[in-house]
Formats: sequence, C-alpha cells, structure tokens
Amino acid sequence: MINKGIILAGGTGTRMSPLTKAVNKQLLPIYDKPLIFYPLSILMLSKIRDILIIVNKGQINQYRKLIQNGKNLGIKVSYQEQSKPRGLPDAFILGEKFIDNKSVAMILGDNFFYGQGLSENLNKYKKLKSGARIILHRVLNPELFGVAKVNKNNKILNIIEKPKKYISNLAVTGLYFFDKKVVKYSKQLKPSSRKELEIVDLLKIYLRKKKLTSEILGRGSAWLDSGSIEDFYKTSAFVSAIENRQGFKIGCPEEIAFNNKWIGKKEILNAIQFYGNCNYANYLKKLI
Ligand code: G1P
Repeated sequence: MINKGIILAGGTGTRMSPLTKAVNKQLLPIYDKPLIFYPLSILMLSKIRDILIIVNKGQINQYRKLIQNGKNLGIKVSYQEQSKPRGLPDAFILGEKFIDNKSVAMILGDNFFYGQGLSENLNKYKKLKSGARIILHRVLNPELFGVAKVNKNNKILNIIEKPKKYISNLAVTGLYFFDKKVVKYSKQLKPSSRKELEIVDLLKIYLRKKKLTSEILGRGSAWLDSGSIEDFYKTSAFVSAIENRQGFKIGCPEEIAFNNKWIGKKEILNAIQFYGNCNYANYLKKLI
C-alpha cells in the first residue's frame, strides 16, 4: 500500500515560452484553476496524504502561497527545490528523506487524468506490494511519449522513450507507483545522451527483474497532455465543457478532502475566504 506521493513540478517549460518565463508551467491555468491542482487531486483521490512537491529553484514560495502546508486540505505537503532538471528519476534521489524507505507514487505536474471509475482504479493501483506499476493509455502519437509494448495478458515486453519506429500505441502516462527500491535503483542510473536520468531506464531495471506491471486506462478515461500551448487550450476546453455541463468541478482539492472527511466545514469556510470572491469560492460554498 502506497501512502506517499511526489509531484514533479519543476522544468523550464521551454515549449510554452514566453508564458513560462516568469511563471512555472504548473501554475498556469487549465480553465479555472492552476494546472498543479489536477495532479494534486489525483494523488488525493488515491488517498495519498503525504505529498512532496518538487519545484524549480526559487519557486517554493509561489507554490506555498497556493497550496500551503496541506493542513488546509487535511494532508501534509512538503516542498523541495531542484536546482536544475536532471530527469524524472532525480525526484527519487532528491526525495530520499521524504520517501524514508517506503513505497511511493509519482505524478508529473503536467499530467491530467479524468474518467468514470478513476478513483476506484487509483485505489487499486496503489495497492502495490513490490515492484513498479505503470499506467498506460492509448494515443495516436506514441512517438511523443514513453511507449510500452505489451502482450495479450498486459505483460510488458519492452518500453522505449519516444520511439522513432512504431512499437505500440500505448503511452506510459506520467503516473507511476514504485516500491522502496526506487531510490537505490535511481542512484544506479547513468545520464542519457540528453544528459538526464531517464524514467524508462528506471522502469527497465524493474522490467529486467520481472517486477514491472502495467494497467491500461480504457477508452472511457481521458489522459490529456499539457506539453504545448495547443494542448493547454484543448485540456482547458475539455474541463470547461464538462464543468459547465455538469456543474461539478474537475480537480478541486478542497472538494476531495471534504468528501474524504479529511476536512470539515471550518476548513471550507477558510478556503472560501482565502480565494475571495470568485467562481471557485462560490463552488466551495455549495459544498457546505
Ligand atoms: C515524460 C516521460 C515519458 C512519459 C511522459 C508522460 O516525457 O519521459 O516517458 O510518457 O512524460 O507525460 P516528457 O513529457 O518529459 O517529454
């Protein structure tokens, strides 16, 4: 069972410049809330309450202003700076103290997940005893992602980062579950030609030891990208369409905390005051 989670919210967001020159990508809006609310919500839906957010050097204060220490959400949030992007597995080296020899989930700060039954699935995925687990989703453009080739029984045969030649259309999403060996294995990795530690190399260590399993998110689920400006707008349009039809918000951490009974009316009232007179606060009012 995994009770700790890391959100990797660093990166320079070069593809989104100039938007990302002064503001970190994960603080930019996906429709009506900052992008980071969505991966944070995913960890909270997985009932993970001990969360480390890894951010770029000098950006802790901006995140703390928004998410605070987590008490407001009935969780514990700590922050750590990454001096420069050294690849995704660097999160486990930086987070060694936080991980504290336990198993851990990691979600990339720009990954968006939505779908019927997602919470149940997440709570199933986190019941990992040993090894690592990746979540796959079918895409039309696998060459942009880590890609896994699996057999009929979902057994992983191979994984390649951004394959030039087609091997499968199953992208490895940015949500990973690891046992406690992840820190040790991450330290064994050597930087790739782009001078970064590669998540695929880490996954391959588990694969070689026959300790890597996968789950496929079906077609009723959405895994959307926020890598480019075009993707940002598409994801925003998706959130807007669902929210304005149903009247439910996607990625509202206060709502998840309230439904999980991690916070009560008092914290919701505080949040309403904190956000001020806005549509988001009006939504919180309706919760109580
Ligand atoms: C990273 C990973 C890739 C994964 C993707 C998911 O790619 O390297 O394996 O499929 O995240 O969002 P990046 O977004 O850094 O290009």
